[in-house]
Amino acid sequence: MDTLEVALGARSYPIYIGPGLLSDAGLLARAVTAQQALIVTNSTVAPLYLERLQAGLRCPEQHVHVLPDGEQYKTLETFAEIIDTLIEARFHRDACLVALGGGVVGDIGGFAAACYQRGIRYVQIPTTLLAQVDSGVGGKTAVNHPQAKNMIGAFYQPDCVIADTDTLSTLPRREFAAGMAEVIKYGLILDAEFFAWLEAHLEDVLSLDTDALRVIIGKSCELKAAIVAEDEHERGRRALLNLGHTFGHALESIGNYERWLHGEAVSIGMVLAARTSAALGSLDSADVERISTLLTRAGLPTEATDVDAERVLEIMQLDKKTTAKGLSLVLLEGIGRGVIVAAPGAEVLRAALEIGRDG
Ligand SMILES: NC(=O)c1ccc[n+]([C@@H]2O[C@H](COP(=O)([O-])OP(=O)(O)OC[C@H]3O[C@@H](n4cnc5c(N)ncnc54)[C@H](O)[C@@H]3O)[C@@H](O)[C@H]2O)c1
Ligand SMILES: [Zn+2]
Repeated sequence: MDTLEVALGARSYPIYIGPGLLSDAGLLARAVTAQQALIVTNSTVAPLYLERLQAGLRCPEQHVHVLPDGEQYKTLETFAEIIDTLIEARFHRDACLVALGGGVVGDIGGFAAACYQRGIRYVQIPTTLLAQVDSGVGGKTAVNHPQAKNMIGAFYQPDCVIADTDTLSTLPRREFAAGMAEVIKYGLILDAEFFAWLEAHLEDVLSLDTDALRVIIGKSCELKAAIVAEDEHERGRRALLNLGHTFGHALESIGNYERWLHGEAVSIGMVLAARTSAALGSLDSADVERISTLLTRAGLPTEATDVDAERVLEIMQLDKKTTAKGLSLVLLEGIGRGVIVAAPGAEVLRAALEIGRDG
């Protein structure tokens, strides 16, 4: 087992990474010391991993709340049902919520923990690659508003994160690839050596080799944890993690959140950000090629040539990360060097969107 730390002073916490952690009763006993525990999971993950988790938990009083599966249930209604369960089962302030599942379960579970009696402890047990490398770490919790994603939430850090690499064996390939977009993103914005490692070892990663998984999850969490430690509330550097996301969110919205998974839209968005960087002269065109080649090898889309560039630009203007100062964008000054800049003019963005289109 590998252990990393998210360094946030008194609120620092460990991330445990490795195979077989869900069956490690010793680790679970240390992670969840409360008398009362509520496991929040969903209808897909419960039949796969709930029993294993329950067998290891030593809390005398255990309850389970099973959510329906899907982003469409990441709502205030679903959140309120978890609160109902906590109240009906008379959960105390010193209880612990355990979120077992992907980013949806982690985000709603974390938000319920942040709000119940003004905050109870919680533990993240992420079971998708995306949740193990991204949403499970960093303490952003939220539910969606019918008109906008993640609009209602809190920054609230867990007690610990337990990433059992074995759970990835049941994850659909497409979901795994979507998580790889975030992994590749860390290399692009922060670590050229890690990017090169991914180029050299992608086959091991895709065949779910345990050591390779430990490397990608460990490295991703280490890079994210360092940024979160520096800028927990995203007033500055944490925004680097949004590489490809401004373009990506626009594409997700145009595709009605059905056409692309989040990671797939981010993959296309990172290529668009790379092209924009190249157009501004800060990135070699050979590096744009390297980036799109690695994303393609990981099973991700890199083009959205049928999408109307004007609609993308329009939605980007509405992006919630737009500050009073205007739209900012994460670009690259080389592989491994992300920078936050004021978005270039529409002409430059339009050109990036239009490359690859056949007339
Ligand atoms: N809090 C953050 O910092 C942060 C960061 C990125 C994304 N997010 C949020 O995370 C969510 C996306 O997370 P996600 O990609 O994990 O999606 P998800 O939670 O919907 O999981 C994807 C699918 O995989 C299934 N699944 C989960 N674990 C499985 C396993 N081990 N085996 C088989 N199937 C499994 C799920 O039931 C679901 O059908 C979005 O709501 C997004 O807004 C949050
Ligand atoms: Zn993302």
